Amino acid sequence: MRGWLADGTLDWLWAAAERAGVPIAMLATDSLLHIGRIAERHPGLRLTIDHLGGRGGTTTLKDDAAMEHMSELIKLARHPNVAVKATGAPGYCSGPYPFTSERATAWHTDSTFEDTLPLLAVLHAKEVPSQKGGTMFADMRAAYEALPEPRKRRLSGLTGLHGRSTGPAGERLYGDDKGVTEKKYQEVPWPAVTRHPVTGRPILFVNPMHTHGFVGMKRDEAGPLIEELAEHATQERFVYYHRWRVGDVLMWDERATMHRGAGDYRPDEHRIMLRTIVYPN
Ligand SMILES: [Fe+2]
Repeated sequence: MRGWLADGTLDWLWAAAERAGVPIAMLATDSLLHIGRIAERHPGLRLTIDHLGGRGGTTTLKDDAAMEHMSELIKLARHPNVAVKATGAPGYCSGPYPFTSERATAWHTDSTFEDTLPLLAVLHAKEVPSQKGGTMFADMRAAYEALPEPRKRRLSGLTGLHGRSTGPAGERLYGDDKGVTEKKYQEVPWPAVTRHPVTGRPILFVNPMHTHGFVGMKRDEAGPLIEELAEHATQERFVYYHRWRVGDVLMWDERATMHRGAGDYRPDEHRIMLRTIVYPN
C-alpha cells in the first residue's frame, strides 16, 4: 500500500473519489508526506487519516514513542481537505483510564539527550483544570549562583552525560518501561555548567531526568551528585509555579530553566495545552 501511494498506482482512485465526492480514510504511518502531495493534487478529495496517523491497534509503541510522527502529521494542517481522526488516541496511552499522565512531572530540561538544544518553548492553555494543574520552573542561573564555591569549582571541570529518561528521576518514573522509540539515541555530553548564549551568565546544566553521569565519574558517585544538584536547584526560592488560565501563552528559556508539570490536578478534569518548541536555525 505504501508503494502504491507513492508510485501512481492509485492515481485513478484519487481522481475517481474526487469526482464522486467520496471521502477516503486510511491508516497512514510513514506515508504522511505522500498523502500531503495527493491532497494538494486533488483539492476536492476529502482524506481522513485514521488513528492520528499512527499504527493503530497493532502497534506496541506507547505514549511519546507512538507519537514521533506528530510533526509530519501537523504539516498536513495546511491542506483543508485532510482531516485527522483521533478516536484511536487512547490506545496509545500506557496508563489506565482516565489516562492521567505522569509524563513530564519530574524536573527536566527538554531534550538534553539530543545533539541540538532547543532555545525556547511555548505553551498555550486551551483547557485548564478547576484547581491546580500548574507548570513549575526552576531558575538554573540563580541556582548556579547560589551554589557553594567548592561545588562550583568541582562542576567547572565536569561534563554531564545525557540520555533519554536515563537520569535518576527518569529511572524512578519509568524504570525499565521507558517505551520503545524508533530513533536510537546516543549518549550526549554537555558541560555541567554552560554559559547562556545571549547573556553569557553561567547556568547549572544538569537535570535529574536526562543526566545520568559525568565523564570520568563512576555511576554510583554521579547519581547522588545529580540528585543533590536537583534538590538544590528546585528549592522554593528558585521556583516559579504558573497557575494556568485559559488563553495563557507562556514562553520559557530552555537553556536557563528546568520545568515540570505539577501533576496535582484531578484526573477526571482536562488540561489541554498546545506546545511549540523553537530550535536555532
Ligand atoms: Fe518538558
